[in-house]
Amino acid sequence: MTNLYVFDAYGTLFDVHSAVSRHADEVGAQAARLSDLWRSKQLEYTWVRSLAGRYADFQELTEESLDYAIDRCGGLNAITRAKLLAAYAELSPFPEVRGVLKGLRYRGAKTAILSNGTPAMLDRAIKSAGLDGLFDAVISVDPLKIYKTAPAAYELVRLHFGATPDQVTFLSSNRWDIAGASAFGFTCVWVNRAGLPDEYAELAPKAVVKSLDVLLA
Ligand code: LAC
Repeated sequence: MTNLYVFDAYGTLFDVHSAVSRHADEVGAQAARLSDLWRSKQLEYTWVRSLAGRYADFQELTEESLDYAIDRCGGLNAITRAKLLAAYAELSPFPEVRGVLKGLRYRGAKTAILSNGTPAMLDRAIKSAGLDGLFDAVISVDPLKIYKTAPAAYELVRLHFGATPDQVTFLSSNRWDIAGASAFGFTCVWVNRAGLPDEYAELAPKAVVKSLDVLLA
């Protein structure tokens, strides 16, 4: 592994399902389905808009995809919808995240985020998760107006750090993100928290881990 660790944010550092989990009682029997639909539609919107050249920021897409998921699940009152969005702004980090970031930095590594999230979303998520001060850079695709997996998104890391792609260890729980980062030339680690089957065979990660703990092993 190299000395520069770049993390995806949503799903990798922050648990995207923690928003619905926090209000599962209010959401009701369809809570898990709603959370899955919310995430999958949010991502679909990033790809469709990127391919069509019609960027809208990640906050807007997060709200649009929540509304779609709510409609598919039979509706939800406005107060619960607002609570879900507020929870999404302050998602729970996965339990090992803070310790791993601190440990890597203690060893002299550089750490960064590369995310589809807007700078404001990332700033709030980082602060609420107690991860303030644990990154050398928090890089958002927002100024580019295109989402991962566009090569230009991964290029932002090279532009910021002046590192060649192979000097970057990129970590994501999203297999599609690993495919994009691998195509760009990053050394990739797929954080397969959910034990999902592999895909994108020719765009493979260098390693597959179940949690970020392994980085300190
Ligand atoms: C991120 C989302 C897509 O870029 O996981 O943080």
